[in-house]
Amino acid sequence: MHRQAAKTISKSDARSMPRKYFVSPDIFATEQKNIFSKNWLLVGHQSQIPRSGDFFLATVTGENLIVTRDQGSVIRAFFNVCRHRGTRVKEDACGHSSTIQCPYHAWTYGLDGKLIGAPHMDEVPGFDKADYSLHSANVGLWEGFIFVNLEHNPEPVENWFAALNGKFSHWNIPKLRPAKRIEYDVRANWKLMFENYSECYHCPGVHPQLQKVSPYDSAENDLREGPFLGGFMKINPGKSLTMSGNACASFVGKIENLQQVFYYSIFPNMLLSLHPEYVMVHQLLPQSPERTLIICDWLFHPDAFEGKDFNPEDAIEFWDITNRQDWHMCELSQEGISSRAYKPGPYSARESIPAAWDHYYLQQAG
Ligand code: FES
Ligand SMILES: [Fe+2]
Repeated sequence: MHRQAAKTISKSDARSMPRKYFVSPDIFATEQKNIFSKNWLLVGHQSQIPRSGDFFLATVTGENLIVTRDQGSVIRAFFNVCRHRGTRVKEDACGHSSTIQCPYHAWTYGLDGKLIGAPHMDEVPGFDKADYSLHSANVGLWEGFIFVNLEHNPEPVENWFAALNGKFSHWNIPKLRPAKRIEYDVRANWKLMFENYSECYHCPGVHPQLQKVSPYDSAENDLREGPFLGGFMKINPGKSLTMSGNACASFVGKIENLQQVFYYSIFPNMLLSLHPEYVMVHQLLPQSPERTLIICDWLFHPDAFEGKDFNPEDAIEFWDITNRQDWHMCELSQEGISSRAYKPGPYSARESIPAAWDHYYLQQAG
């Protein structure tokens, strides 16, 4: 999308990855097992479920989860699978309910997942409700974002994100509220979006509007290897990344430098873009080797919603256009890479972050 390495030089042997990584069903299955079933995966933000009983459904690695806030305000995730005969318990994508009731035979679970009602089951010898709680999934919170992990005993989420501790505190992310969500269905492998997001070599040609307010060669990266990669780019003085070029809301916090926008990729399914007056986050949901769903949310400070200059559409439209420009390039890449003529090509010095991303990915893919 709009990041690149200004100061670091990619290794001379760094090349884009072989075709199989973008088209092979076997590699896709291995990724689902070795990456998406083991890592902390972004599923949303805590502001989506502010009250006890609020819930939304999330699908990760083919598993449907109910993400809800229990009576004690703790966020939990359960496999959306009834303990009676396996039926999907919740159908609606989001909503509110004080219990979780299966539509088939009305087994009813508390918001903590415990089975509290099972008609006629007391007639079954030895049946004990305590044995039939909904299966839970691990939930972690980081900066107000909700993550799930399908591993049995995952690394605690605090440890996983320890390297980023305090780094984003100026943005008040846990407090922010969503103004808009747009979902994109992209005919391209999920890794192409990460590679695209991680460089701005493509920006002059692909993003004429972005190029006017944020110079493509202004990036300075501070995270250059590992699961978290990125840094900042400059915003021209007095400008904002909006259609009008003006700020579209009050600032999310005490931002030190209003002429910087920070872009970080968080392995394996999150892109985090931090602006002075809003935070944009992309959630990637790989569907097949050649298809990825992308959920994009724009978050603002709760007080900004009351401001007379609040105009979130100014930023949303800007990024919707920019997103679509990027996804189009990813789709063209997918088509070209699928050709028998494709061979890995050399990364430029402005593509050290995509090269670092590939390097980490290859270590994890197994
Ligand atoms: S399958 Fe859920 S109550 Fe029977
Ligand atoms: Fe881009």
